[in-house]
Amino acid sequence: MVRPALPVAPHEFFHRIPAAPRETTKKTPAAAEEGGELLRLSDLERVCYLGEGACGEVTKVRHRRTGAVFALKTAHYAGPSGAAADEEAEALRRSAGSPHVVRCHAVLGAAADAPAYVLELMDAGTLGGVLGRRGGRGVPERALAEVAARCLQGLAHVHSRGVAHLDLRPDNLLANSRGDVKIGDFSVSRVLYGRAGESRRVSVAVGSPMYLSPERFEPDAHAGPRGAIAADVWGFGVTVLELFLGRRPFLAPGVRPSFEKLRQAICDGEPLSVLGSAAASPELRGFLDACLQKDPRRRATVAQLLAHPFVARRHVDESRRALRELIAETLEE
Ligand SMILES: Nc1ncnc2c1ncn2[C@@H]1O[C@H](COP(=O)(O)OP(=O)(O)OP(=O)(O)O)[C@@H](O)[C@H]1O
Ligand SMILES: [Mg+2]
Repeated sequence: MVRPALPVAPHEFFHRIPAAPRETTKKTPAAAEEGGELLRLSDLERVCYLGEGACGEVTKVRHRRTGAVFALKTAHYAGPSGAAADEEAEALRRSAGSPHVVRCHAVLGAAADAPAYVLELMDAGTLGGVLGRRGGRGVPERALAEVAARCLQGLAHVHSRGVAHLDLRPDNLLANSRGDVKIGDFSVSRVLYGRAGESRRVSVAVGSPMYLSPERFEPDAHAGPRGAIAADVWGFGVTVLELFLGRRPFLAPGVRPSFEKLRQAICDGEPLSVLGSAAASPELRGFLDACLQKDPRRRATVAQLLAHPFVARRHVDESRRALRELIAETLEE
């Protein structure tokens, strides 16, 4: 498929980027600005198409002078007031600084244009893609515990910065060939506190229905910070369940149910029943049970999950190796 050349906005915003992403992974965005160089959209040449979602198209790009490679996400919309794009940019800005969150090097584009995000390139794509390439085989527990640990660390960071992700799922977790897994795609994320530090009630009726917690199916569902964070824990739990099973939970294989059928399965069913006779350890079952409590007040917090034996008692070196090898295998196939 022929894809259009990169759009170059007439009034490009100037931003500073580091010379190469590897040198700066530990710097804050502010530090990167001081020591970096100016970046314009026209400095980036398109290498290839990487993917597309509801909100934007993503291409691999190379910085002409330094050769540094990035993933460039060009939003499909600017919106009447740019509000949705502003929220994504603000969520990305606040969430910067964790090794478990996809780094955003810059946001480019004039105010009236759809923004373009210059992102850290994750060369193994999404975990949804990794799962697809495994042809229905789930992720073994040893590697899964490492995925869970990294996501939880990323999530703890995002939440501590006053942001709820609200769209956690395998397609929004990105992997690289070094075996890292990071949280990406903040396109429906919400900032949980106002300028004066006051709690905001945000709409949580966003994100992919498969990963919505029961309370998010209420008409016009809104939540304060605690509720929005609990919503992320459920989405994370469904993600771990899907990675373990190797297929979407709550659905008979091959079935595409209506929104109503999915709502019924999630709100009325027993989440852990989808494990059936799968050979899940008691630790994994307990972990999933803690994430998938229908009452958000009974759901585990991220801190509790980080201390859960499924994550806390994993053999860190072996889990890391298992995850790295699993990702590498799917890249070779
Ligand atoms: N940093 C990255 N490195 C490599 N590929 C990426 C990166 N970010 C996104 N992609 C690819 O682009 C696709 C779309 O990205 P993303 O999920 O951010 O867009 P979206 O429009 O918000 O999607 P959604 O439909 O989930 O709302 C991803 O599924 C992935 O294949
Ligand atoms: Mg996505």
